[in-house]
Amino acid sequence: MRLIIEPDYDLLSKWAANYVAAKITKANPSAQKPFVLGLPTGSSPLGMYKNLIELYKAGKVSFEHIITFNMDEYVALPQNHPQSYYTFMWENFFSHINIKKENVHILNGNAPDLEKECAEYEEEMKKVGGIDLFLGGIGPDGHIAFNEPGSSLSSRTRIKTLTTDTIIANSRFFDNDVNKVPKTAVTVGVGTVLDAKEVLIMVNGHNKARALQQVAEGAINQMWTITALQLHPKGIIVADEAACAELTVGVYKYFKDIEKDNLNPDSLLK
Ligand code: GLP
Repeated sequence: MRLIIEPDYDLLSKWAANYVAAKITKANPSAQKPFVLGLPTGSSPLGMYKNLIELYKAGKVSFEHIITFNMDEYVALPQNHPQSYYTFMWENFFSHINIKKENVHILNGNAPDLEKECAEYEEEMKKVGGIDLFLGGIGPDGHIAFNEPGSSLSSRTRIKTLTTDTIIANSRFFDNDVNKVPKTAVTVGVGTVLDAKEVLIMVNGHNKARALQQVAEGAINQMWTITALQLHPKGIIVADEAACAELTVGVYKYFKDIEKDNLNPDSLLK
C-alpha cells in the first residue's frame, strides 16, 4: 500500500485529480473500451472534483467514455433531496463534465426491493468488466463507503445500518439535527471495493488521524474497515499533514522518503 503525504488539502486534492486524469488518459478509453470509475461523496473528494472539472475545461481530460459507479446512497431520502448522494454528484461533478447520463450509476435508495437493487448493482459492475479505479474517502472511525465498524471485509453491495457516530458526523449536512439523518444506507461492500483494479483513498484533517494510523500501521481489522486496503495489490492513500498526527515518526518518515519523487502533483500529468 502506498501512502502519499501532501502538505495540505489543496495539494492532496490536486494530486488525486491529476492521478485520475493521468490514468484516464493513459487508458485511452473508447466506446468499446470505456474506463470505469468508482466514486465517493462527502467533503473529502470535493477538492478533487473541482480540480477534475478544471482539467476537463482546460481540455486535459475527457469523460466521454467513462462509466461511473457511486459507492453508496441513503435509504428513503428522495432522489432530489439536497443531501442525497444523487444530488451531490450532479451538483458537484457530473453537471460540469461531458459524462453521458446513461454511464452514471448510483444506487437507488428508494428502490422497492433494496436487496434486488444491490444484487443488480454488482451485476452491472461485472457487465462492464469491473471497476478500473475506485476512489474513496473514510469516516473518522475508518469506515469506507458505509461499511461501518464490524462490516465483513469480504462484504458485497447491501443495506447497512448507520452507527450513531456516523449519524452525528453527517448531521452537519442535515441542519445539525440527528433526527433528520437517514438511519440506513445502501453501500458497496469492502469486497466490492477490493475487487477494483486500483483503489485511491483521500484522507484529510485531524479527525481522520486515528483511522490513518490504523490503516498505515495497524493490523487488518473489521473494526477499521479501511485497513482491508492492505490486502489490495494496488492501494494508494493520499493524505494531508493534519491526518498524519497519529503516525509514528518512523512510519511517517518512511513514506515521505520512499515517495519523495512522486509528491509533486504536476509530475503526474507529464
Ligand atoms: C460518509 C460516506 C463515506 C465518506 C465519509 C466521510 O459516511 N458514506 O463514503 O468517506 O462520509 O465523509 P467526509 O469526507 O465528509 O469526511
